Amino acid sequence: MDTTTDEIAPDIFRISTFVPEVGPTGFTFNQFLIRADEPLIFHTGPRGMFPAVHAAVAKLIAVKSLRWIGFGHVESDESGSMNLWLEAAPEATVAHGETGCMVSLNDLADRPPRALKHEEVLDLGGKRVRHLDTPHVPHCWEARVLFEETTGTLLCGDLFAHLGKGPALTSSDLIGPAEQAEAMFKATCLTPTTGSTIRSLAELEPSVLGVMHGSSFNGDCVGALRDLAMLYDDMHTAAEANAE
Ligand SMILES: [Fe+2]
Ligand SMILES: [Fe+2]
Repeated sequence: MDTTTDEIAPDIFRISTFVPEVGPTGFTFNQFLIRADEPLIFHTGPRGMFPAVHAAVAKLIAVKSLRWIGFGHVESDESGSMNLWLEAAPEATVAHGETGCMVSLNDLADRPPRALKHEEVLDLGGKRVRHLDTPHVPHCWEARVLFEETTGTLLCGDLFAHLGKGPALTSSDLIGPAEQAEAMFKATCLTPTTGSTIRSLAELEPSVLGVMHGSSFNGDCVGALRDLAMLYDDMHTAAEANAE
């Protein structure tokens, strides 16, 4: 495995591990570390990647100082090594939406998680992250995203997931590659509200999208979110027409 670290916004680092075996051109698994008075990691990575991600985080902060553990939803790549991080960082707390805590994390996490209300802000000291519930977008009831307000960075998880080993940060089109990956993996819940939920994220007017699988994006983020919303609206309409 090949793990690299890049700063995609001031003190927001993308830790990326490329796995060539996934799909025809390989797939990246990315974590984001926000370096602040109370450091936060978004996505823990699966347990098998923990040594590599731990080593990368240790180059940025003292691992014991990690204060918050976040992820978009409960899945091995998002949250698999949650308890390993809780063990490595004794002051760390898992922070997730109320649904995720109620459904899974009150039971799965080795220490009690912090349940966040929709739009609740955690002040990290130098950085501020706003929690946003996005149920079933891209998948899972407890799905959420995190918006870092001082840099305008939207940590949008599996949204815009795409294959290959692109640059850490790009302003090139992500919609085409995301559409291709969606056709292959069919990972997103197609519901009548998928499009509108994604469209609501455009209202945050982010300037950077932290993408969990693929390159992060610093082009027209509002336009990209609206285009992605339209893509899912069209897919939902087509699926309904097919079902009739
Ligand atoms: Fe996922
Ligand atoms: Fe993922």
